[in-house]
Amino acid sequence: MQDEFERVVTLRKEIEAANKQYYELDQPRITDAEFDALLRELLDLEANHPNWITPDSPTRRVGGEVAKEYVKVRHLEPLLSLDNAFAAGDLREFDRRVRQVAPSADYVVELKIDGLTVALTYEEGLMVRGATRGDGEVGEDITANVKTVGSIPLRLNDTASKLSVRGEGYMPKASFARLNQEREDEGQPPFANPRNAAAGSLRQLNSRITAQRKLDYFAYQVLATKELGLHKQTEVLTYLQRQGFVVNPEYKVFTDMEEVIAYCQGMVTERHRFPYDIDGLVIKVNEFALQEELGFTAKSPRWAIAYKFPAEQVETVIEDIIIRVGRTGVLTPTAVLKAVSVAGSTVSRATLHNLDNIREKDIRLGDHVLLQKAGDVIPEVVRVLPEKRTGMERLFEMPDLCPECQSLVRQDEGEVAYRCHSITCPARQREGIIHFVSRDAMAIDGLGPAVIQQLLDAGLIKDAADLYSLTFEDLTPVDRMGKKSAENLLKGIQDSKQRGLAPLIFALGIRHTGEKTGKILAQTLGSMDNLLSATLEELHAIPDVGPTMAESLVQFFSLESTHRFLAKLRDAGVSMTAEKSLQPQIFAGQSIVVTGSLERWERREIERIIEEHGGKAASTVSKKTAFIVAGERAGSKLVKAQSLGVPVLTEEEFEQLIKP
Ligand code: IVH
Repeated sequence: MQDEFERVVTLRKEIEAANKQYYELDQPRITDAEFDALLRELLDLEANHPNWITPDSPTRRVGGEVAKEYVKVRHLEPLLSLDNAFAAGDLREFDRRVRQVAPSADYVVELKIDGLTVALTYEEGLMVRGATRGDGEVGEDITANVKTVGSIPLRLNDTASKLSVRGEGYMPKASFARLNQEREDEGQPPFANPRNAAAGSLRQLNSRITAQRKLDYFAYQVLATKELGLHKQTEVLTYLQRQGFVVNPEYKVFTDMEEVIAYCQGMVTERHRFPYDIDGLVIKVNEFALQEELGFTAKSPRWAIAYKFPAEQVETVIEDIIIRVGRTGVLTPTAVLKAVSVAGSTVSRATLHNLDNIREKDIRLGDHVLLQKAGDVIPEVVRVLPEKRTGMERLFEMPDLCPECQSLVRQDEGEVAYRCHSITCPARQREGIIHFVSRDAMAIDGLGPAVIQQLLDAGLIKDAADLYSLTFEDLTPVDRMGKKSAENLLKGIQDSKQRGLAPLIFALGIRHTGEKTGKILAQTLGSMDNLLSATLEELHAIPDVGPTMAESLVQFFSLESTHRFLAKLRDAGVSMTAEKSLQPQIFAGQSIVVTGSLERWERREIERIIEEHGGKAASTVSKKTAFIVAGERAGSKLVKAQSLGVPVLTEEEFEQLIKP
């Protein structure tokens, strides 16, 4: 372990130095392949020891985050993800929901190519930008690399004035095999799978390397279909082909979900015959009018779903079960596994969630178990292999004392979790600070778990509010913290004061209050003071705030410790009011449903207008709905609104409302 940790430190130094020589001094001392090998080695070590990852590790440049060296680009429309279906039942459920709104929908089923999303922008027929997905809103500009992909047209066949195309960049199996063979010949560690290889290649800062990697692209989506006169997904696919894109030829149209299911199940074995990796199928409602009618949830469209192939399962051994103490004091038993490779990476830890789960699956120390990756990402113990038991296996018991602070552990009434209730528990404090600085909370870069631990150990901070009084001198003794990183960190801490009310509420780590609730509370209440003085009834009246959430908020804000903590933040100058929207908040607290196909706006546009005016764009009509906006061919939602006596507005009437 110690050796590996030292290796991580050395690798980071070497990579940084190589980067500097390459980019700043323009005098590379090592080859691109040698550079890649160092980075891969570091990635693998960090994958095995996630708690060693620091936000400034060079691996973070290739992580999913926007790399510092790339220019960030905001996507015209966010790239959404898809809900997943893992079994026939999930697909039937999806079909049932679709049929409620669109009884006669056709489905297009496309292969789900296992690569990475690449968004392309064309202006006057020329390719002007290629970007990665990033966090869905902001991606990285990889135009130079995208241009090396032969199957991406640099010029369209029709010179449309502006076109946004989305599709999947991938590495064919043959290119992947050749690349790994070359790497092996040169003594380089191989890529785990074609997807990693494609992602690594497209995120190359040096596009010459991308060019050698033989990547490919399947296009599957265009934006602004209305203007292009396209009404169906199948029309989009033909249109894309006419423009010179490669469209995956395997797509099929079905009218019946049972046929879709049979097709999906057949693909589980068929999948291997394609010259590229697929990880499932994407099922889309064909007609755009129906897609609009179905709309979106916060994260994904309701008109599409991804069928994911069953996970690969492997056998391993539970060598130990250790306890992790989380931010809310929950003790999570975690299995230490004999390291195995599953679905593309090496796994040596898996959460066992809680004692109930351990008892239900009868997991014992020393057991042979089947392991898989849930949703292809999170390692999960599926079941024990009792036939492999020797009699030496031991039952696991939850400890009576918190392993971090030795205070008594209790299981609360009606809860499965065991908790450490000491609010001074060092683990809870540490995890609380880690959460406070995290990306969706106060977003303070350069403050990883290891640095936080050192600051706590040195007595420089006791809680997150203490971060705001750190000085340059405080940071210099911290291990591996150079002058530049210390300066950046201090700047990050200062900048976070203006982060805004919504992330601040989320950062407080109140039980049952996630990022979305933070936004809703900030939007409706406008300031921390209003939140502090809000009553249970007031909170409950806010759409989307349920009774459990309201109670947990009132409880949190009644604590003496909360008041002290907020006072410290306030004294430090942390902003505690929501930034004012530029629009008058005429729809504040109202839930509004849009249905049917609209003339004036794209569906997402009108939803954004509603939100900018303080309202909530909801998808289901209920007694609480303030009004609905109904376009052409509005269906069941209109009928429901009429039957409930909910006002129905036309587009013109809605436009009148928002006119200044
Ligand atoms: S449709 C809102 N079609 O799968 C529509 N996605 O979560 C979203 N993918 O990373 C995408 N093949 O890049 C669509 N034929 C296909 C696809 C596909 C692969 C990827 C996509 C995204 C993920 C969907």
